[in-house]
Amino acid sequence: MESILDRLKDKKLDTSTSNKRKLYIESYGCAMNFSDSEIIASIMADSGFQTTEDEMDADLVLLNTCAIRDNAEQRIRNRLIHLKRNKREKPNLIVGVLGCMAERLKDQLLEEEKLVDLVAGPDSYRDLPKLIEEVNDGAKAINVILSKEETYADLSPVRLNSNGVTAFISIMRGCDNMCTFCVVPFTRGRERSRDPDSIVLEAKNLLDNGYKEITLLGQNVDSYLWFGGGPKKEFKKLSTEEQASSVDFADLLERVAISVPGMRVRYSTSHPRDITDKVVHTMASHKNICNHIHFPVQSGSSRILDLMNRNYTREEYLEKIDMIRGIIPNCAISGDIIAGFCTETEADVEDTISLMKQSNFCYSFMYTYSERPGTLAAKKLQDDVSEEDKSKRLTKIIEAQNEVSKAINHGLIGQTLEVLVESEAKRGNADWKGRSDESIKVIFPKANHAIGDLVQVKITKATTTTLIGVPV
Ligand code: SAH
Ligand code: SF4
Ligand code: F3S
Repeated sequence: MESILDRLKDKKLDTSTSNKRKLYIESYGCAMNFSDSEIIASIMADSGFQTTEDEMDADLVLLNTCAIRDNAEQRIRNRLIHLKRNKREKPNLIVGVLGCMAERLKDQLLEEEKLVDLVAGPDSYRDLPKLIEEVNDGAKAINVILSKEETYADLSPVRLNSNGVTAFISIMRGCDNMCTFCVVPFTRGRERSRDPDSIVLEAKNLLDNGYKEITLLGQNVDSYLWFGGGPKKEFKKLSTEEQASSVDFADLLERVAISVPGMRVRYSTSHPRDITDKVVHTMASHKNICNHIHFPVQSGSSRILDLMNRNYTREEYLEKIDMIRGIIPNCAISGDIIAGFCTETEADVEDTISLMKQSNFCYSFMYTYSERPGTLAAKKLQDDVSEEDKSKRLTKIIEAQNEVSKAINHGLIGQTLEVLVESEAKRGNADWKGRSDESIKVIFPKANHAIGDLVQVKITKATTTTLIGVPV
């Protein structure tokens, strides 16, 4: 019987353009969604669709959506209203909503809005060709069933909008944490890990195709655990044989790093409760694993962290930071912060700011709290910080982060960093843009370098977000 891995290896996409229907796909939200769009493109290619970058040229428009905050969903609604106008010009155009907003709103999107022909949640993409046939037959089509097993491990993603240098690889799906503010467990279902052999093979394929950097993706990579398939179990509940052959995240990271020598390996996202020193030691012992950890804290106040159900305190978070920097002294650490969560006070905000400074985050993604229907916080807590206060607090938090980033970046002036060239700084510009090992953006004159080169760059200037230098 043909194995999954044979299929992955042998799959060649038919790139002939005749008689192909055209798919335009737009991705929103996190890297996981962008990665899913590449799986969707692969499924649709097998069903005779070719991707196009021109929405007016498309027979099928798919929006792969995010539901993390209310404004993410508002953006999609506006896009759908715009697409309705395209539908008037092209009556056979099919518009589908996929991803997390599709999963959250389900048939509400078909019934109430009448803007959409097709709705598919994150675990039902294999069903898309069938759903499209149903739409062609005059029906509205929907599949929002979540799975405990689906990892799309056997599919070879079609790299979309690719620079040919950096790529994402999904290593797991779903999330079993119940952070009270978060909609992801509802939109992406139970956590499940993907077969490590298929991950390594995908990494090697990327290396063979000239890629220079991969990022392993999961909502909580530290709970990755493979013991031969099936729904997730805890390590201690595995049989002796399963334990002996199991692969945890540190093992997977090591396998990947060894199998793609010379290629940069990154990952996202770590959970402060679950990260282990084994993972950090693995990073330290493989030169090609980048010294950067995205380490979302959400708040610096233990009381708020408890209400968020993050399962760590401020002190425990800071201990993890010490553990990381004890093993990799120059490890870059970035954060995620939510301003204005339920019951947050000005004193809690001060705790967040002091933690950001103490952790020396190179950058952070910072948001105001947006209550999501159905989450534990929406059911049990009151969204009692005014929108005005949320914005003021966010501004304060952003200013604090800018100060920290500026100090870190200025401290790098005079140093030489290895930069992977990703693209032109601006279209038609004389400079390249790339990222350092620490994931800081670096701009330098092109000289005789090319996209995909690893270049030693001496840093001469710094801003809050960018380093500027010259190749040495
Ligand atoms: N799995 C990752 C985060 C996924 S969501 C983790 O646990 O860290 C990405 C970020 O969006 C979160 O870290 C959080 O900062 C933010 N976020 C999630 N839900 C939110 C909400 N309801 N309002 C505002 N920000 C939110
Ligand atoms: Fe959401 Fe928490 Fe899961 Fe991250 S770990 S996706 S914040 S529930
Ligand atoms: Fe958004 Fe879904 Fe990612 S809600 S952040 S696209 S997992």
